[in-house]
Amino acid sequence: MPRFKKVAFIGLGLIGSSLARVIQARSLADHVVASTRSIQTLNDAKALGLIHEGYSNPIDAVRDADLVVLALPVQATEKVLVQIKPYLSKDVILTDVGSTKGNVVRAAQAVFGSDLPIGFVPGHPIAGSEHTGVHAGKVDLFAHHKVILTPLDSSASWAVQKLTQLWQAADAEVICMGVDQHDEVLAHTSHLPHLMAFNLVEQLASRQDNLDIFRYAAGGFRDFSRIAASDPQMWHDIFFANKTAILSAVDGFEAQLKTIRHLIDTDNSQALMGLLKNAQAARQHFNYMLSKHTVMEKEQVTQKFTILPQKHRFQGTFSVPGDKSVSHRSIMFGAIAEGTTHVTGFLEGEDALATLQAFKDMGVKIEGPNQGEVTIHGVGMSGLKPAGKPLDMGNSGTSIRLLSGILSAQQFDSVMIGDASLSKRPMERIAKPLRLMGAQIQTTGERGTPPISLVGAQALKGIHYDLPMASAQVKSGILLAGLWAEGETSVTEPEPTRDHTERMLRAFGYDVKTEGNRISLIGGGRLVGTNIQVPSDISSAAFFMVGAAITEDSDITLEAVGINPTRTGVIEILKHMGADIAVANERIAGGEPIADIRIRGTRTLRGIHIPEDQVPLAIDEFPALFVAASCAEGKTVLTGAAELRVKESDRIQVMVDGLQAMGIDCTATPDGIIIEGKGKSGDWSPIFTGADVESHHDHRIAMSFSIAGLRASDVVTIHGTETVATSFPTFTQLANEAGLAIQTIG
Ligand code: S3P
Repeated sequence: MPRFKKVAFIGLGLIGSSLARVIQARSLADHVVASTRSIQTLNDAKALGLIHEGYSNPIDAVRDADLVVLALPVQATEKVLVQIKPYLSKDVILTDVGSTKGNVVRAAQAVFGSDLPIGFVPGHPIAGSEHTGVHAGKVDLFAHHKVILTPLDSSASWAVQKLTQLWQAADAEVICMGVDQHDEVLAHTSHLPHLMAFNLVEQLASRQDNLDIFRYAAGGFRDFSRIAASDPQMWHDIFFANKTAILSAVDGFEAQLKTIRHLIDTDNSQALMGLLKNAQAARQHFNYMLSKHTVMEKEQVTQKFTILPQKHRFQGTFSVPGDKSVSHRSIMFGAIAEGTTHVTGFLEGEDALATLQAFKDMGVKIEGPNQGEVTIHGVGMSGLKPAGKPLDMGNSGTSIRLLSGILSAQQFDSVMIGDASLSKRPMERIAKPLRLMGAQIQTTGERGTPPISLVGAQALKGIHYDLPMASAQVKSGILLAGLWAEGETSVTEPEPTRDHTERMLRAFGYDVKTEGNRISLIGGGRLVGTNIQVPSDISSAAFFMVGAAITEDSDITLEAVGINPTRTGVIEILKHMGADIAVANERIAGGEPIADIRIRGTRTLRGIHIPEDQVPLAIDEFPALFVAASCAEGKTVLTGAAELRVKESDRIQVMVDGLQAMGIDCTATPDGIIIEGKGKSGDWSPIFTGADVESHHDHRIAMSFSIAGLRASDVVTIHGTETVATSFPTFTQLANEAGLAIQTIG
């Protein structure tokens, strides 16, 4: 929480007094003062406990203040700045709360010239109420609202940071952007709609028959005109203050109005329908974007693990749960196949269950899961039904990206949302190629992130796509859209990635060609229901493999683990580091190779430069491998793994932060990590110190730090572990059985 010695408000209306309430409620300042022209307001503010002192002259308020908030009508800015300029302290943070920014900056430049105070950071909380004045203020006015800061070249970063913290203390979401961008964005999203509302009401009100119109006006008029009840003085000021950007928004509106007028005039039914449908889809999309409820709720869940220092050997024979990638695909392909698909070994983790629920929501009859058994009554290529609500993909990148492909090709519109972590992950990587195929797909969030909305009934055509990154999810999403597309769809990968989609489509009777790194299929075919045996997930097995590799005298066997060659990087890398691993009983189950893996703690690992061609083949196992590298003798260097930064968390940074907290010398690089291993040949003493670490709600990070607990000298506490259930719901149980003293709290 930020602290201020003295905060001075110039003006204390709705916004100023709400911020004053936050400052008082959170004890963010020793002293809070205000200046307003109304003595009554000052007395009321004192009585409400919002300020300690009130002044009629702003000069008295700003003396010795380390934060000055201009919370007065924007046109008064220049006059006030002239007055207070000589009395501002050197390190003051000077900000405002006005809805236009260019004119505030111009006012400051007129007063300070090019020598703007370095603490000057204009701001705009996007929150309001139909009520005004000091009594209308609320301590939660800004909660879950956006606050835009528009730092200038002259603004010091400490000032921006402290102001950001202040608004965050008000539970606001802070966004930084340029002054021009702010004014342009607000001109379109706020100023133009207000202008139109005032103008429409005026148009109707000035008609002769206005009474009748108002009497019969239905919901549409009421909704549209609601904001015309806002304060005329304020809007008068804003329209002049943001004149340039507003005029250009009005020009855009006029042009658009001409377009729609012309379409109606010329009876252009198809184009008019296209325009209306586009707008409807966009509006629907904004709805989901604006209501972040699912994200908020899940963010509040938090659980932690504590790992006690190791006393026992780490040993036993285990079957880890089913493969996540294969489980997802078994539901998806079973749903769009003809006939019944029977799945065994299905992962009953939250991610795969999100996929299962999505297809149930789209009308597919699915029985189970019951002890890993699922029966899917396929509806064929054209049998999915609209869900009638957003599909919640939870934490699962695989669900949202693969479903983007499937849903692009449906006759109905869809929306997909996700939890806090998924809502930060990049989706343009799949949206872009799908658009090239003719899909109508939109991503939002600030950077091409979920929610995703799709408009149905688009005719897709096959494309040839060179994947810019090694991603099985993107590859699969494109190929799945290709099932419905006209002609051939092909994808070329920069490096081979997991090929479960290709294998399983073949198992469902669909012809998929793989020629080197190029995978292709021809649209228009059908899938036929089949039986799928899901192998144990090598990504889950990896935690036990690393655990055994770093623990003296350990002996762990993992049964029936999938060893698809596109997934076995972790075995290769651990072998390369000198681990004692044996792969036995290799066999094929449900089209995927499986084997039993035995790993023993008989020798100290050695640091290596991880071969880049192994990166996509071990992409999910790096958090665990970083723990192994910390226990190795010598340095381990990973390069070519920038993708780790866009997983469920930024896995490079989050692991570096945690490992450093546990006493490991390691450095994050843009595309990898450098770890100075602390191991010494033949020495099995603790490597890690006890620590409190953050998993950032990333399941694999949580499990990796848990395993590090095997070589820790003291208690390791890991926060945000509830997401472990997404991929490995039995992790704590199996880890305890193997001898890791792990407790779950919360
Ligand atoms: C997956 C692909 C990988 C992997 C993820 C599962 C899949 O993601 O990290 O856990 O099932 O296709 P990317 O495609 O983003 O590399």
